[in-house]
Amino acid sequence: MKPSTISELLKQDFTLQEVDIKGWVRTFRANRFIALNDGSSLQNIQCVVDFENTDEDILKRITTGAAVHIKGELAESQGKGQSVEIQVKSIEILGDSDPETYPIQPKKHSFEFLRENAHLRTRTNTFSAVMRLRSSLSFAIHKYFNDNGFFYVHTPIITGSDAEGAGEMFRVTNLDAKTPPLTEDGNVDFTEDFFGKETNLTVSGQLEAETYAMSLGKVYTFGPTFRAENSNTSRHLSEFWMIEPEVAFMDLAGNMDLAEDFMKSVIGHVLENNYEDLEFLDQRLQDEDKKKPQAERSEMTLIEKLRFVADNNFKRVSYTEAIDILRNSKPNKKKKFKYIINEWGADLQSEHERFLVEKHFKCPVILFDYPANIKAFYMRLNEDGKTVRAMDILFPGIGEIVGGAQREERLDVLKQKMAVLGIDEEELWWYLDLRKYGTAVHSGFGLGFERLVMFATGMSNIRDVIPFPRTPQNAEF
Ligand code: 4AD
Ligand code: MG
Repeated sequence: MKPSTISELLKQDFTLQEVDIKGWVRTFRANRFIALNDGSSLQNIQCVVDFENTDEDILKRITTGAAVHIKGELAESQGKGQSVEIQVKSIEILGDSDPETYPIQPKKHSFEFLRENAHLRTRTNTFSAVMRLRSSLSFAIHKYFNDNGFFYVHTPIITGSDAEGAGEMFRVTNLDAKTPPLTEDGNVDFTEDFFGKETNLTVSGQLEAETYAMSLGKVYTFGPTFRAENSNTSRHLSEFWMIEPEVAFMDLAGNMDLAEDFMKSVIGHVLENNYEDLEFLDQRLQDEDKKKPQAERSEMTLIEKLRFVADNNFKRVSYTEAIDILRNSKPNKKKKFKYIINEWGADLQSEHERFLVEKHFKCPVILFDYPANIKAFYMRLNEDGKTVRAMDILFPGIGEIVGGAQREERLDVLKQKMAVLGIDEEELWWYLDLRKYGTAVHSGFGLGFERLVMFATGMSNIRDVIPFPRTPQNAEF
């Protein structure tokens, strides 16, 4: 096929002379030089307009943001900064862009401003690089699982169960909000709702994925996930994408091995395939860093950080060991933590996770064997009767990036746990069936895709790594 994008054009060996290209004008200098970008890569191609033989009318319409169609000849460039350029033979304005109102001017914009213009922000270098990386990571994830014998399962988005038991769900209903049907005791009568029961958007595909693991062996889901948590942080979205592998006959140790190998592999993929975009983001971060006081600057550049994760073993630490470290840590003793760790059993906050990863171990950490009562109902109870075979992976700058567990495969123990937590057995009859018919050890985990994209791009706000972020009070676009 003939190259149709700038990225393809710049890759070929320049035997091709006649080119035909479409894109958006980034800048137009001296009535002569167009920097054209079409989103295929960071590279602009310089198009040199023969202004003496071009209509004044057309020249005026070559403005930042305009869509143009250019035909011309590829030539060695005389100017600095590019090896080739296009000598324009014909230019057609496909879509004008009013320079008075076009929001994406060729200057530095704040991320806040660009968030408000999320429909146009991918016309900037930073956001186009982030979103190309997002695409590449997504491909790397499918590739990893496909190469390793996993099947991709599409778990439902509308569901009746609350997999995480946290109650942070968005209801799905077509009942009239003003006058819903009521039962005799005055509650909303969901038997009259569309599905004849209460339903919500999924908070996790895990429970359904377990049914497929217990038949197909190795499976994974990769889909949208919804959580109505009211946490307005730089690491939480109300709609995010989660990757959830689930494997039959695999225990917690195997789960940790899988998660580590998987994370290293997808990060390795972008180091190999997206170097140009990574270098750009790396430089951006270094420039930002220079503005900070010495003590706050990062020890590693973005690319060094990615290499470090790809090449070094993750540190595996039990919850109990972690609590000991935290209890004896400086910020705990000096009451610098917002939540002081006093005793075993405390839930870890992101300040604690980040201390372990960034200050204490200085490498990715897998924490395992958490107290049963701070984790979800489905996790395998250990012989000590108080911890479960849970594991969380903590990353520098991110905190928790993966959460997973070996699942409780014993029917009686699971039923007991559900009874204690008040989870209706009838709701999850099918989940219990897995423990009745051919039950076996099995495990899996969930990776928050946007947290991975944050890590790989060095972006510090999760709203900047998903095209159109959904957060409390915000569902624009
Ligand atoms: O730890 P979580 O809640 O685990 C589960 O949902 C399990 N069912 C996964 C499994 O074992 N199959 O969520 C998993 C990951 C977190 O580690 C985090 O990276 C991400 O999902 N995550 C979020 N990402 C963005 N915004 C939110 N509100 C998130 N909540 C969780
Ligand atoms: Mg978690």
